[in-house]
Amino acid sequence: MDVLRILLDTDTAGDDAIAILMALRAKNAKLEALTINCGNVDFDQEVENALYTIELAGMSGKVPVYPGSRHPLLREWKTVEYIHGKDGMGNSFFPKARQRPERRHAVDAILETVNSNPGEITLVEIAPMTNIALALRKDPTIARKVKEFFFMGGTNQYLGNQTPAAEFNIWVDPEAAKIVLQSGMPTTMVGWEICMRYAVIGESEYREIDAMRTREAEFFVAVNRQVRKYHKKVRGVDATECPDSITMSIVLDRKIALKVFPKYVEVDNQSELSRGATVVDDLNVLGKKPNVNVVYEASSRLFRRALHNLLRGESLSAPAPHPPRR
Ligand code: BDR
Ligand code: CA
Repeated sequence: MDVLRILLDTDTAGDDAIAILMALRAKNAKLEALTINCGNVDFDQEVENALYTIELAGMSGKVPVYPGSRHPLLREWKTVEYIHGKDGMGNSFFPKARQRPERRHAVDAILETVNSNPGEITLVEIAPMTNIALALRKDPTIARKVKEFFFMGGTNQYLGNQTPAAEFNIWVDPEAAKIVLQSGMPTTMVGWEICMRYAVIGESEYREIDAMRTREAEFFVAVNRQVRKYHKKVRGVDATECPDSITMSIVLDRKIALKVFPKYVEVDNQSELSRGATVVDDLNVLGKKPNVNVVYEASSRLFRRALHNLLRGESLSAPAPHPPRR
């Protein structure tokens, strides 16, 4: 069985933690390292959340965590504790993990890992793209050495979550996203709309998850507690979303992405109103060469199967990896 070697960049809060667990438990993947980017909550808290998640999975000391960019390239950084809780983990305030972060900077860890394993590393982004942009600036050759690059971020003809036009990860650091999307890496985008259409967990599913009574299920409920409260209050719905974990599920099992099309995608970093918007040239009006494989449809059923298996404490199945689509 081919094993996917994953390097995961995260701003660890609730759903990032579930995506990390998925990667740690997948039989067809090896999580080489986690790198941390500024995003959801206080930077050092994000680092602690990543370390705690590794410990929860019983993998303490086995996956290094490299702290990276503590600030976006140019923009002021605004965290979203009001969505994820003060600790980013639903106000669970988990104990400090035994494992400590590495001293090496995330950018150097990315360069070292990709350069010493050309064609081997699948880079996965579930956070703003500062670390990866800096790595590409420091050594642009890594663009042709990564096996593939997947990111959760942006929207394809859909409303954003941070502003009406933009999804959070891209909005935080639009300049970084621009650098990354223009780098030439074989890139796949899982936009916010994919999460909203196929990966929203509602009240009855929460009851099912509650009834599982596993540590994983309890962890899922706990880390999503504040997001759930936020949605009840702001949108009047009892539900939470799984943007990072549906992205990881697609990385681990391509069959979950039902329709993927190569498109030209550009990030707006010029206007204030649509800062961080991902403009997907669906009709190829601009006539530019596609730079991103955009996921247009995903299987809610297969995503749920992967998530529920994880939460029941079963290891993920090991589907055969598919070749890159471009
Ligand atoms: C993205 O922003 C973060 O809040 C989530 O972890 C996810 O990566 C969704 O917009
Ligand atoms: Ca994230």
